[in-house]
Amino acid sequence: MLIKARKGWEIPESEATPEAVFLDRRRLIAGGLGIAGAAAIGTGHARAAADPTADLYPAKRNGSYTLDRPLTEEKFSADYNNYYEFGTSKTITAASQALNTRPWTVKIGGLVEQPLELGIDDLVRKMPLEERLYRHRCVEAWSMAVPWTGFPLKALVELARPKPEARYVVMQTFRNPSVAPGQKQFWYPWPYTEGLTVEEARNDLAFLATGIYGKPLPNQFGAPIRLAVPWKYGFKSVKAIDSITFATERPKTFWEGLQASEYGFWANVNPEVPHPRWSQASERVLGTNEQKPTLLFNGYGEYVADLYKDLKGERLWA
Ligand code: MTE
Repeated sequence: MLIKARKGWEIPESEATPEAVFLDRRRLIAGGLGIAGAAAIGTGHARAAADPTADLYPAKRNGSYTLDRPLTEEKFSADYNNYYEFGTSKTITAASQALNTRPWTVKIGGLVEQPLELGIDDLVRKMPLEERLYRHRCVEAWSMAVPWTGFPLKALVELARPKPEARYVVMQTFRNPSVAPGQKQFWYPWPYTEGLTVEEARNDLAFLATGIYGKPLPNQFGAPIRLAVPWKYGFKSVKAIDSITFATERPKTFWEGLQASEYGFWANVNPEVPHPRWSQASERVLGTNEQKPTLLFNGYGEYVADLYKDLKGERLWA
């Protein structure tokens, strides 16, 4: 996905943080030093205390969402992330600890009956938290299967009550170059911006995740709140959201702003439509490195295919 620098998908596995270093960080945490201490050692930055909503995890699993493969072990998914605010490699776990996720306000505005500014803890306690097992397919042709905790995006849409003229939901990541060095790179169109149609946002599958693996989201996964739209390529699933705006205009999304010919607005998964520079027919499963055939809509067609049946002339697939 990298446009200007070294290509993310070309980074050899051997450059990932050796597991021993990661485990050692965990031992520091387990040994009572706490996240702030461990992160300070790793990155030179302190971090806020434990998540005040930790008592809500693990949430009850919603059994409607099943997987065709084993869950990806946390040791693989938690240290292989895309989060350009903290670097262009897959190894941003330590750097992302610099982001202080409390206090955190999510602003909900634009064309809504009920503009809101909610502290993340109030928002999380207001919403019906549940666990869902979802697959995740990155446009770079790797995939994982993880247990998110969170709530349906449509619950937030109902809270905001969009006006009839609102057609899109625009979601943006925080902007703070002093903790996120990637944001000093002026050629990227910060803040990271993504969007869905209001109809997509109301689909049962669209999910706002605040946790993973039965606990609050670690920073590298997009704490304190990120999108999970598993029928679309992973770049749609924007992390660390602090603004949600309802609009009539389709937003220019982050990757579209960088390279519209390769990354469009819709970005639905389709194995038969190659990326201009590589095939999308199969995917490498994180952890096992097994190569699996990619499925149309990442296997979620029964939930979402109808959303697109009348959309003629749109580039639906990337
Ligand atoms: N959100 C922000 N703010 N910044 C990013 O760089 N990367 C996207 C998406 N959300 C990204 C982001 C991409 S390309 C993918 S594949 C997923 O996050 C990766 O999610 P994960 O690191 O939890 O696996």
